[in-house]
Amino acid sequence: MVDVFIMGKRYTVPETLTILDSMEYAGYQMTRGCGCRAGFCGACATVYRMAGGYELLVGLACQTKVEDGMYLAQIPFFPGRKAQFDLEEIKPSVAHFAQLYPEVYRCLGCSSCNKVCPQDIDVMQYIAYIQRGDFEKAADLSFDCLMCGLCVSRCPANIVHYNAALTARRLYSRYIANPDRFLAERAQAIENGELDAEIDKLVKADKDKLQELYNNREIEK
Ligand code: FES
Repeated sequence: MVDVFIMGKRYTVPETLTILDSMEYAGYQMTRGCGCRAGFCGACATVYRMAGGYELLVGLACQTKVEDGMYLAQIPFFPGRKAQFDLEEIKPSVAHFAQLYPEVYRCLGCSSCNKVCPQDIDVMQYIAYIQRGDFEKAADLSFDCLMCGLCVSRCPANIVHYNAALTARRLYSRYIANPDRFLAERAQAIENGELDAEIDKLVKADKDKLQELYNNREIEK
């Protein structure tokens, strides 16, 4: 068993638990700050400090094991600004991006975002790509972002990296990437009702059947 501190109160929990499990073991009901439990959704961003240490550490609560002396605080939501725009009215240009997210041009190059990213994404580099209008590279490099908000929580320039990256990916898909012929054909087939029977089968399938279908799905090379 190890001692952890949740909201400043000490709890003794099994050392095999993740931070998320330890909070539930301690009696907290996670209705926020918890989603997929598998490291994909980014809902469980957590900051912590070890007893006697000065450094503020971060991790995903569902992916990080508890350690003796952890002082824990969750960040289920970070109040980062999200620019509002109509994708049809903006273009993939530095000028348009600067109007939406002027703060990306205030990056100090301190690398704080890289140090806290639980996905090990080179956040500072994709911000640099955005600055120079290379939305394709920014979209590619930010693709694994979970939008947990930890990068924003540490940025001295108040950049909202994950929202800027989301905008870069939207610009890339709308204006730069080649339109996907197969997707268009499939969307048309759905509209024509050609897949109604197959969709109906999926809707009626139970969880095991869906799992089997998912695990054996065809994956485009
Ligand atoms: S609960 Fe989804 S990433 Fe942790």
